Amino acid sequence: MINLENKKLKYIVEALFDKPIDDKELLVNRKKELEHLNKIAYFQPMGIFGVCGETGVGKTTTLNFINAENAKRLYILITEKDSKEVIIGDFLYKLSLLQINSKNNKVRKLATEARDFILNEMSYNTSYGGGINFAANVSYEKSINNKKRFNIYSVKEHIDNLLSLLIEEYGKVLIIVDELDKEKKEEVLNILDSLKSVLFKENIITIVSLPFSIYREYSNDRMRWNESGNLENIFKDMVFLEPLKAEDIKKMILKRIKEYPDYFEMDALDEIATFSDGNPRDALWIAQQVALFNTDKNKITKELVKKG
Ligand SMILES: Nc1ncnc2c1ncn2[C@@H]1O[C@H](COP(=O)(O)OP(=O)(O)OP(=O)(O)O)[C@@H](O)[C@H]1O
Ligand SMILES: [Mg+2]
Repeated sequence: MINLENKKLKYIVEALFDKPIDDKELLVNRKKELEHLNKIAYFQPMGIFGVCGETGVGKTTTLNFINAENAKRLYILITEKDSKEVIIGDFLYKLSLLQINSKNNKVRKLATEARDFILNEMSYNTSYGGGINFAANVSYEKSINNKKRFNIYSVKEHIDNLLSLLIEEYGKVLIIVDELDKEKKEEVLNILDSLKSVLFKENIITIVSLPFSIYREYSNDRMRWNESGNLENIFKDMVFLEPLKAEDIKKMILKRIKEYPDYFEMDALDEIATFSDGNPRDALWIAQQVALFNTDKNKITKELVKKG
């Protein structure tokens, strides 16, 4: 039974759903940070750069808005982590998949070769028909975990050839490596160290997300790490994402529920902003919970937020 109220609440709950955004209309603040990141992407000749901040503060969202007008942008999620070989293999696999439908024949050919190479290198015995699909990915994940002994030099060569061709085609390549912040610190270091060996190349800019806790820990305790394990030696520059101001938290919520701007009373929004402590994910979660717990109400007051 969909009535008008249900429709409104469904809209509100969906609008408050927590996911990284790429719609500029919904973005608040981060102007300074994005300017800095855009300058890095545009002017720096090469190198690995970090974006760090606590979980839910908006790292992925910020990465989504980096403007790479002079570069080919590649968004890569590293999911493998148990050895350097496997990490670099994973990187090549993801990179090749991104380019496998390229309009450029040469790029498409190299990407296909690279993908076939990496799939062949892994002793994978689950058979599947057709191209890359979800099932194939599952067997790939499984097999890449089982086999740690593939030819790292060939993998690096494939990556190098593919990246060189992309540089030739686009001039510059911007590689976004997200979700490293989900890994354990030893794994983060291992991944970064592995990637460094293939990404330190003229006209390749890599931007990586990293949780603040890891960065703080390493920068306070550098002696524990050798040269390669030292974050300061890996990152040429680091952009910090501070929590948002209360004003921005309120703006963020209002932008999302723009069809019902009066749903939250102003002091209810103040209350949500205070509870969230400037963390946009927390603010969305609180706002959504309050909406879900008060489906019988047409408007949310400060008291309802406090009760929730
Ligand atoms: N500047 C912003 N403007 C509008 N919404 C934002 C902004 N920053 C973050 N958000 C929202 O807050 C939530 C958390 O953001 P995001 O997923 O980008 O954080 P994160 O730092 O990548 O989190 P994680 O540590 O889990 O990877 C998302 O729902 C996102 O849409
Ligand atoms: Mg994220």
